Amino acid sequence: MAAIAQPGAIVYLNGEWLPLSEARVSVLDRGFIFGDGVYEVIPSFGGRLFRPDQHLDRLDRSLAAVKMNNPLARERWRAVLNTLLERNGGGDQSVYLQITRGVARRDHVPIEPLTPTVFAMSSPVVRQNRQPVTAIVCEDIRWKWCQIKSIALLANVLMRLEAQERGAYEALLIRDGFLTEGAASNVFIVKDGVVRTPPHSKNLLPGITRDLIVELLARNHIPHAETSVSEAELRAADEIFLTSSVREVAPVVKLDDRPVGKGVPGPVWESVVSIYEQFRNAEVARAQAGAAA
Ligand code: PDD
Repeated sequence: MAAIAQPGAIVYLNGEWLPLSEARVSVLDRGFIFGDGVYEVIPSFGGRLFRPDQHLDRLDRSLAAVKMNNPLARERWRAVLNTLLERNGGGDQSVYLQITRGVARRDHVPIEPLTPTVFAMSSPVVRQNRQPVTAIVCEDIRWKWCQIKSIALLANVLMRLEAQERGAYEALLIRDGFLTEGAASNVFIVKDGVVRTPPHSKNLLPGITRDLIVELLARNHIPHAETSVSEAELRAADEIFLTSSVREVAPVVKLDDRPVGKGVPGPVWESVVSIYEQFRNAEVARAQAGAAA
């Protein structure tokens, strides 16, 4: 789980490197006033960003969807994020970046051209991959553009709070009778040996971890399908697992107080997580070797 950014943390704000405690944003920032911005969370393992290009591609898509230009070129982003990692001790971290439309007199429609606010921080994480989690089923109360990684996360926060109140970790979301995703993760089910996850649509975030898992399932000839999953199918699944940059591939062992399958992580999850870890470790080793060369 991501820890709160450490007291000694160095952050990036609008071209400057600052101690976290000195980083300040105007109260008129549209991120603060309207939640008008987008973000990314990129994991690092052993001091190397994992899949940065996939995250930065998604950032470009989020920005385009909210009619904002990317204030930094790809190479500049890479340099900023790598410096951020180094300045915060490298190792296993969770890198957070956020771009808002900028500071302006409060009006839904900004009148003058704005300078976006660009912020990035990094926090050490203790990896909890393989740690079983519990979940609840919850109505998906979000808007209709869930493919955008928007900083406006009130609905996600409320659904996670409901999960917490009911003693669970994650909320699995149902829209019109069908599973979309988790409040902060994508969801896979296993039924009769087939792994299934809802296809890309505006109802869910195209998770970088989700997409990698789908790729690895195909590469390893594990039966799978990107298809809709009804609430009944979710509840009757033999196995359920979540994916996210923070939790990686986590087995769900309890859903609404009922055990999923036998109530312990299942065999399909076990092979998927092993394949994923192998891939991740190989990528990290390659990145480390590349940097050393
Ligand atoms: N959340 N769906 C939602 C709604 C999410 O918020 C996330 C990740 C995912 C998984 O996407 P990825 O594999 O790219 O991390 C799916 C991040 C970690 C967060 O908000 O902290």
